[in-house]
Amino acid sequence: MVIEDQFMNLSDISYKEAGVFENTRFEKIHNVVFSNSNDASAVVANEIAALVKQKQDLGELCVLGLATGSSPIKVYEELVRQHKEEGLSFKNVVTFNLDEYYFMHPHNVQSYHYFMHEHLFNHIDILPENVNIPKGDIPANEILDFCISYENKIKSYGGLDFQLLGIGRTGHIGFNEPGSHNNSRTRLITLDHITRVDAASSFLGLENVPKKAITMGIRTVMEAKRVVLLAWGQNKAEIICETIEGEITSHVPATYLQNHNNTTFVLDEEAVSELTRIKSPWLVGSPDWNPDLSAKAIVWLCEKVNKSILRLTDKDYNDNGMEGLLAQEGSAYDLNIKMFNKLQHTITGWPGGKPNADDTNRPERATPERKRVIIFSPHPDDDVISMGGTFDRLVSQGHEVHICYQTSGNIAVSNHEALKFAEVALSLNPKDVSYQKIIDDINGNKEFAPDSPEVRQLKGIIRQKESLGATRYFNVPDAQIHFLNLPFYETGKIKKKPLGADDIEIMCNIIEEIKPHQIYAAGDLADPHGTHRVCLDSLFKALEEIKNKPFMSDCWVWLYRGAWHEWDMHDIDMAVPMSPDQVLRKRKAIFYHQSQKDGVMFQGDDSREFWVRAEERNKDTAQKYHSLGLADYAAIEAFKRYIY
Ligand code: F6R
Repeated sequence: MVIEDQFMNLSDISYKEAGVFENTRFEKIHNVVFSNSNDASAVVANEIAALVKQKQDLGELCVLGLATGSSPIKVYEELVRQHKEEGLSFKNVVTFNLDEYYFMHPHNVQSYHYFMHEHLFNHIDILPENVNIPKGDIPANEILDFCISYENKIKSYGGLDFQLLGIGRTGHIGFNEPGSHNNSRTRLITLDHITRVDAASSFLGLENVPKKAITMGIRTVMEAKRVVLLAWGQNKAEIICETIEGEITSHVPATYLQNHNNTTFVLDEEAVSELTRIKSPWLVGSPDWNPDLSAKAIVWLCEKVNKSILRLTDKDYNDNGMEGLLAQEGSAYDLNIKMFNKLQHTITGWPGGKPNADDTNRPERATPERKRVIIFSPHPDDDVISMGGTFDRLVSQGHEVHICYQTSGNIAVSNHEALKFAEVALSLNPKDVSYQKIIDDINGNKEFAPDSPEVRQLKGIIRQKESLGATRYFNVPDAQIHFLNLPFYETGKIKKKPLGADDIEIMCNIIEEIKPHQIYAAGDLADPHGTHRVCLDSLFKALEEIKNKPFMSDCWVWLYRGAWHEWDMHDIDMAVPMSPDQVLRKRKAIFYHQSQKDGVMFQGDDSREFWVRAEERNKDTAQKYHSLGLADYAAIEAFKRYIY
């Protein structure tokens, strides 16, 4: 189905300016893509503000359907800003939220009621009586009547003028989980396991996540006059592709939106990475072939036809939309050799450069022979989890390796772990009241309340000492270990402060002090609101500030990926192989982080322990190299160079 521009009737012109405006034949829902979620959120906020004002001019109420979760946070921030700085009034606005957990008291910090007030309603001039959120604390026998009255109330205002949506990894909109019927209305629903797993970290454990919710139905959403769905980050890429390109099915409830005639998906670059036009653009047209795209296409082709690079034939290229590339390069033979060499040249056992060797085709420079290196680690264990093998090699090859732990990681230490240490300390010094206070604080902590400063300090120290165990095991002097404790992280809550000038200053200072030849950092793009991404932004901002200092001209930046994803093969600029022995050394280094072993607090959607994930990922990368026809290693760590 060809997407037409009439879908843009209500949209602000900036969608056209900022978004990629060429939806292909595979795509059944209009979508626009922004390079980052901040710009995208501002454009959506502008559309909402324009609608509110348009209704004001007409003397009408504006009826908004609102969502919670991480996706709309920046939209609400921008609306609050426009209210405070530009006088945008919400006096004519009536809101209906999509959903609320059941059972859930409105004052509980996990409730959507609390969320909406914290992010929006407390900061604007909306009339309290115009705010409608499903009630999560009514008795079970009142739910049906409540749901009917919620629907009737929406109807009494003439329906929703605008519905803001996020999307769950199950394809839910609102909490309409797989199986939801297209005629469904507001009702009680059982949450999907994946949805509960995704919510587990903010509830400090799966067991605390409610099993049910009250949600508007699919029909309720479909009757909105305008729908905008937001999705950010790689975690949403697969479900976004299924929703936009797949068939309409109750298994992916968001696909019902294919039948809505005024829907736009507003997405960032990571969220669209699985769309055919991004993932394999040669299947939808004749792209401009550059070296990066050729690499991506050839890796894709090998997987598709199940062959190594040097076995690809002209026919393989021609049959799979890559005839343009073939015509440009001459023959499969030339193309294959070129690509094989490109990949071969990414592999090195000398991540800091090989002394006295010709470095023309090596990822790193041979000189200076002994480099100063900074490894930035967002939490106090990402260094060994994500690049333990490379870290070990850099030290053993004589480089001066500094580890900079960006955040304290204190909230990821469980109370029972902290209690153990506090009790040991108290046993050694029974008269010290400060240990007793920590023990009392831990034992008296109410559900979901932030830890006291003393407990946070103890938890931070536990993580520091675990880190020192690992770095000493890799023979790094303690003087080269730096705990930056970036302030943005220190809220004691899952919700962090925005990145501030104080964070950037700390980053700039440490780089200036060490004057590194190499910087390694976690290049995680998967979660735009997660700590890894904020830590990466802190590096990017610091680099922006100091890039013109003379020592920076000799500093290369390498990005590794955190525990969740690996770089795509065509993105890898340096691949560092590990022998079976090195794999075991890396495992042992990870084991020093005992508070993050065995039932960790922030497990994410993967139940494997960190060392298992790291090993499987590194083994998988090695296998991918091997299946493309390159050497067979036990494990490989991968890096992408960042040019600043
Ligand atoms: C929230 C809601 C959900 C979320 C979805 C995505 O009111 O109804 O559908 O929009 O689970 O959540 P985030 O944005 O946190 O990824």
